[in-house]
Amino acid sequence: MSVAEIFESMDWGPAPESRAEADAWLDGQGRRFGHFIGGKRLDAGETFATVNPATGEVLAEVTQGSEADVAAAVKAARKAQGAWAAASGHDRARVLYAIARGLQKHSRLFAVLEVLDSGKPIREARDIDVALAARHFYHHAGHAELGDEELPGARPWGVCGQIVPWNFPLLMLAWKVAPALAMGNAVVLKPAEWTPLTALAFADICQQAGVPPGVVNIVTGDGATGAALVRAEIDKLAFTGSTEVGRILRRETAGRGIGLTLELGGKSPFVVFEDADLDGAIEGLVDAIWFNGGQVCCAGSRLLVQEGIAEDFQRRLIARMAKIRVGDPLDKAVDMGAMVHAEQKARVEAMLARTSGTVHRGEAPEGCYLPPVLVSDLQSADPLMQEEVFGPVLAMTTFRTPAEAVMLANDTSYGLAASVWSQDIDVALDCAPRIDAGIVWVNGTNMMDAAAPFGGMKESGFGREGGIAGLRAYLRPETGPKLSAPKRYEGEAAPSDPVDRTAKMYVGGKQARPDGGYSRPVYGPKGAVGEVGIANRKDLRNAVEAARGAAGWSASTGHLRAQILYYLAENLAAREAEFDARLKAQGAKDAATDAVRALFRWAAWADKHDGRTLGVPMGGLALALNRPVGVIGAFAAEDAPLTAMANMIGGALATGNRLVLIAPETAPLSATDLYQVLDTSDVPAGVVNVLTGDHAELAPQMAGHLGVDAVWSFSSAEISGVIEREAAADLKRTWVNYGRGRDWSAAEPFLSAGTEVQTVWVPFGL
Ligand code: NAI
Repeated sequence: MSVAEIFESMDWGPAPESRAEADAWLDGQGRRFGHFIGGKRLDAGETFATVNPATGEVLAEVTQGSEADVAAAVKAARKAQGAWAAASGHDRARVLYAIARGLQKHSRLFAVLEVLDSGKPIREARDIDVALAARHFYHHAGHAELGDEELPGARPWGVCGQIVPWNFPLLMLAWKVAPALAMGNAVVLKPAEWTPLTALAFADICQQAGVPPGVVNIVTGDGATGAALVRAEIDKLAFTGSTEVGRILRRETAGRGIGLTLELGGKSPFVVFEDADLDGAIEGLVDAIWFNGGQVCCAGSRLLVQEGIAEDFQRRLIARMAKIRVGDPLDKAVDMGAMVHAEQKARVEAMLARTSGTVHRGEAPEGCYLPPVLVSDLQSADPLMQEEVFGPVLAMTTFRTPAEAVMLANDTSYGLAASVWSQDIDVALDCAPRIDAGIVWVNGTNMMDAAAPFGGMKESGFGREGGIAGLRAYLRPETGPKLSAPKRYEGEAAPSDPVDRTAKMYVGGKQARPDGGYSRPVYGPKGAVGEVGIANRKDLRNAVEAARGAAGWSASTGHLRAQILYYLAENLAAREAEFDARLKAQGAKDAATDAVRALFRWAAWADKHDGRTLGVPMGGLALALNRPVGVIGAFAAEDAPLTAMANMIGGALATGNRLVLIAPETAPLSATDLYQVLDTSDVPAGVVNVLTGDHAELAPQMAGHLGVDAVWSFSSAEISGVIEREAAADLKRTWVNYGRGRDWSAAEPFLSAGTEVQTVWVPFGL
C-alpha cells in the first residue's frame, strides 16, 4: 500500500512491540520459578502453568505456595523488619529510589511481560502500569526521606501480608510495596495466580536495588496460598480483589488486632449531563470501560445519561464502539486486548446472556477476546446495573435532574469511583462530592497517582492507598496498655440516695423508656446509686433511625459544629461538681474537668480538619476531601468514662458524624446525666443518641445493623472481635481497642476514624 493510499483510507497497519527481551528473561530463568524469600530465588516446588491468554501458550511454570512456604517467607520478613525499620529514612529512600530507577530502566521488559501474562494492551502496560509503578516508588522514596517530619512518631506495623489481583499485577504490587517499605515494614506479597510474572521480575529489581534480604518476599500460588498468608503471623493485611473474598478476610482477621485494608470491587457511575463535552465523555468511556476489557475495579461501568441527550449520545457511542480495535495485545495500535483468562470471558458472557436490556456489540476476533458491549434500556435495579461484571460491558440508563443523577449514582452497594461530566462548574462541583465514592473524576476518568488516596466506601472496602491516608495504613496505631477488667460494684438496692425509677434512654433528642421496660440498679462503692434502662434490639433500631434522620448535621459547616461543641463544653463546665460527685458515687476514676477540656479541644478541631490539595503530575486540581463517615455506633470505655465519652461525642461530631453511644456499663449514670446537657446545648435532635445496656448483647446488633456506617469500641477485648466479625456482612468500618486503653488527648485517630477521604479530580487547562 502506498503512503498516498494510506492517507486516503487512514488504515493502521500492525505495530507489534517486540517480545524478545521478555522471552530472553523467561528463558534465562528456565521458565520455572520458585518463590523469592529472604532475598533469594528458591527452586521451584509443585508448579502450575501461567498462560498467555491471547495465544494460549504456556509462558512459564510457577510454584504453588504451601503453608510452609508462606511461613518461611513470614519468618524471613520478621527477621529483616527490625533493621529495616531502624535504618534511617534516608537509607530507605535510597533503596526505594533505586527500585524506581530499576523499573524505568527495565520498563520494556515489565510492560511486555505484563501484556504476555495478562492480555492487556501494550499501550496500557507501558504508559500507565509501568510508568505509575515507577512513580509510586519515587513518590514513596520521598515519604521515607521525610519520615518523622511528615508523620511524627510513626511506627510501622511490622510484617505485612499483601494479596493482589490479576488486573494490574505490577501496579497493585507497587501500590502496596512502596508505602509499606517507606514506613519501615517488611512484606510478603502474593500475586494473582493468573498473572505472577511481573512480581517475579520485580524480585530481580529488589536484588539490584539493594533491598535487604527478607524485606520483600514473593510467594506465588492461588487462593489457598493467599488463605495461608492470611492465617500466618502477619501484623497487617492489605488485599485487593473481589468483595466476596474481602468479606472472608474481614471474618478471618476479626479480633486478631492486625491492620486490614480492603480494596474491593466497584460499579462506578459515569454521569453525563446534557451540557457535557459529549466527544470528551465518549473518549472518557473508551478509557473507563473498554480499554483493558473493563477489567478495572474502578471501571465506569454504569452509564447515566441525561434524558435530553440520551438518544444522540447512544448513537455516537455505538458509532465509536465500532471503531475500537480489539486484538493482539502487543500491538501498539490496539485499543482492547484479550480477556485475562477464558474463565473470566465465560463469566462475562454468562452475565450478558441473562440481561433483559438491549445488547449492542462491537467486533472482536476469535479466541479469548470480547468485543466492547453496550447494554441499553436498563432500569437501575437490573443485575447488570448492580453487579460487578469485570468485562467490557457498559450498562446504560437515563436520568432527568441532577438530584436524580446523584440518587441513581448512589443506588449501589459499592462506592469505589465515579465520573461526572458537565461543562457547568456548578453542576459538576455540586454533584461530585454528593456521590458516595472514594474517588470522583470531574470531566475525566481513571486518573490515579501515588499522591492521591485511592480506595472505596461502602462495600468497595476500606482504607486508602496513596497519599498520606495511604501511608497511615502502614503505621501501627498508638494504643495504651492492656486494660484490666473494670471494677463492678454489686449489692442490695438499699441506697441512701433515692433510686431513679424512671430510667430513660436518649433517642432523637427525647428521653424514652426502654422498649422492653427492663432496667437495672447501678451500684457504687456505697450501694445502689441509680437505675438505668436495658436497651434491646428495638431501642437500637430507633436510635439508629434517629441518627440517620439527622443527616443535616453531616452537611453543616465546621463553624456551626464548633459553636455547638463549645456550648456543650460550657454547659458541662457549669455542672462539673455534680458530674464529679456522680463519678465518685459510681466508683469511677475520672474528672469532669478533663471531659470539659476534651470538648473544648473538639470544638477547636471542628473547623480545622481540612482536606488537602494533592501534588499530582497533572494540570488542574486533585483534592482529598474529608467526608463524615455517617452514623457511628460507639461503645463507651470503662476507664475515665466521662472523658472517654466526651472524646467520642466530640470526635464524632466535630468530623460531622451522628452518634449512637452505648453508655459505659460501670458508670452509666454519667451518660444519662448528659441528656440534659445535650438538650441545653442546641445539639440537634438525633445527632447524639445514648443507650444504656449490655455491651456484649448490643455489639453484634450494632455491627450487623445496615444503617450504621462505622462501629467504634473502647470496651472489652471480646467485643472487639465480635464487632469486626459481624461488620463483615456489609464491610462496615470498625475502630476497636482489643481491650487496650488509649491516650484520650490524641486527636488524630478520631479524625481518621471519623472521616472518609474522598479524592476529587478536576483536570483543567490541559
Ligand atoms: P479474587 O478476589 O478471588 O482474587 C484476588 C486475589 O486474592 C488473588 O491473588 C487470589 O489468589 C487471592 N485469593 C482468592 N481467594 C482467597 C482467599 N480465600 N484467601 C486469600 N486470598 C485469596 O478475585 P478473582 O477470582 O481473581 O476475580 C473474581 C472477581 O473479583 C472478578 O470477576 C471481579 O469482579 C473481582 N475482582 C476485583 C478486583 C479489584 O480490583 N477490585 C480485582 C480482581 C477481581
